[in-house]
Amino acid sequence: MSTGSASPSPASPVPPAAPPQTAPPRRRGNWVGALRRSLWSLFQSAYALALIGVILWLSFLAFWYLLDSLLFSPLSPPQVVDLPALRETELSRSSSAFAGFRATENPRIPLAHYHRFGPWFQADAFNDCTRGGCHGPLPHHRNKESRAFLNLHATSLHCGVCHMETDRKPLDLVWYNLADGKAGAPPAAMRALDWLEKAGSPSTYADAQRKEIISLLETANTQTQARDMSAVIQHLRAVRGDSPDFRSFLEAAAAILPHHMRGEYGVKLALRGVLGGPLLAHQRSERAIERYLAEGAKLPEADRKALLGQVHTQRAAEKRSCSDCHNASNSLIDFAKLGYPRSRVEALTQPLLMQAIEKIMKGEPFYLPGFVAPAQESGHP
Ligand code: HEC
Ligand code: HEC
Repeated sequence: MSTGSASPSPASPVPPAAPPQTAPPRRRGNWVGALRRSLWSLFQSAYALALIGVILWLSFLAFWYLLDSLLFSPLSPPQVVDLPALRETELSRSSSAFAGFRATENPRIPLAHYHRFGPWFQADAFNDCTRGGCHGPLPHHRNKESRAFLNLHATSLHCGVCHMETDRKPLDLVWYNLADGKAGAPPAAMRALDWLEKAGSPSTYADAQRKEIISLLETANTQTQARDMSAVIQHLRAVRGDSPDFRSFLEAAAAILPHHMRGEYGVKLALRGVLGGPLLAHQRSERAIERYLAEGAKLPEADRKALLGQVHTQRAAEKRSCSDCHNASNSLIDFAKLGYPRSRVEALTQPLLMQAIEKIMKGEPFYLPGFVAPAQESGHP
């Protein structure tokens, strides 16, 4: 910068002493100004540098995140990959480990992973066979043709319904609550569907009827744990029993209920014991169970079998087979008396599917229906 303006001019009216008086502050001003300017430009450069730094760092982070997630860490979350393994030993020997109920670091039921099974597979803390560390909640594993079907029943039938000795025909059964192990009413979802099927489709519902079905649906909504009827129930509460809306909301409920007819009841069926309550354990077997759990594994095979006999005091000699129960005539189960709605009784007593499964279980060949066969075999050109 030029300092010419500050040099004294000969024509200046200002006395010669003036410049020396003003010069020092001006010079100081220049110096401070220059310092301020250079500080400002330093600050600007630093700011620009910092900004460049931040932008570069952010770009690097974004790019690294992309690279890292694409190339370097293809790790799936442990909840997905750390499923309990089902190895040969578990499948062939240990029933308590079957279906992966062995604890892992990230416990999770594998069936839940594939079949969205979790929310409604309700634990049964009163079933003596499965709570003492002897059998798994899904106990069947030996025979791969039947185990899925048999384990399916474990969600709504106590083991004794199929495995305990009784001469009653049809079986004398009672529903018991999973919450307290005491005798209870049939599942509310089942009673609600039965109520709707029996009511048919009248044009109006009396006030008492309206209250009854709403209360049944509310109980079903909590008992099944799915809570997918909350909206319908709210609508039903808001309209009158003689309105067309009430009928259409009941239809909506009737369409949801059949989805909850497979074991998600909050109650289960068991044989009726001598005192009228559910029979949930082998009687007079406590000492044998204790001994078996303590030393069963170490005993010679013959002694182990004898001790198992003392554990299972009420074991039936014969296992019940599918069509003993799934049959329209002479069934071991009086489905209607137990509260099953008509549509469910019809589905459960159709013997065709059961006969096909029984054939497969016996190792007999299973033929697909003719219309699936290749053209020349079915006789068509
Ligand atoms: C629907 C009837 C039914 C119910 C309910 C049932 N079982 Fe079974 N169970 C069978 C039949 C049938 C067999 C024979 C399977 C075979 O031979 O393929 C069997 C076999 C078994 C076996 C022999 C091993 C195996 O893997 O096949 C055990 C142990 C067993 N059941 C335990 C239980 C326990 C514990 C429960 C209750 C949690 C239970 N069962 C509930 C019908 C049932
Ligand atoms: C002791 C009687 C009994 C025996 C034995 C029995 N079941 Fe069942 N089964 C039932 C009952 C009761 C139900 C209804 C369970 C429920 O309400 O969730 C049922 C339900 C079923 C269902 C579900 C059907 C549906 O529409 O939801 C199938 C499939 C089935 N059983 C197949 C079999 C096969 C296969 C066998 C033989 C390996 C068998 N059952 C043996 C009593 C029996």
